[in-house]
Amino acid sequence: VPPQLIRVPPSLLKYHTGRKGKDAWGVWKGKVYNLTPYMKFHPGGVDQLMRGAGKEKDGERLFNEVHPWVSWENMLGECLVGILVSESEGKP
Ligand code: HEM
Repeated sequence: VPPQLIRVPPSLLKYHTGRKGKDAWGVWKGKVYNLTPYMKFHPGGVDQLMRGAGKEKDGERLFNEVHPWVSWENMLGECLVGILVSESEGKP
């Protein structure tokens, strides 16, 4: 069964900070991923990965600064949540 992908407006992304019991979501090439299942496996540590949590641009920028050769898509494909859309596109 293919996963159900959702439209993620910025407000929903910002909610997923990885803190206070919320999952940590991150964006890569306009796609939103749940970073939480990968958190404890990240070789760079939890704190580093958390720097991109709930942010629209920081995750991809930091990722590219540190290890642009790492394949985000191959590693986190199953953690895909949906696509980032504008606030108005996210409303039903
Ligand atoms: C290693 C930072 C996101 C996969 C590292 C290291 C840092 C880092 C500082 C340690 C490098 C070292 O010890 O030499 C970050 C930051 C991220 C981020 C700031 C986003 C905010 C990700 C994501 C993935 C990932 C999303 C997977 C899709 C890896 C891997 C390594 C690593 C595989 C070890 C391999 C290597 O250094 O070539 N990361 N990371 N990282 N990270 Fe990340």
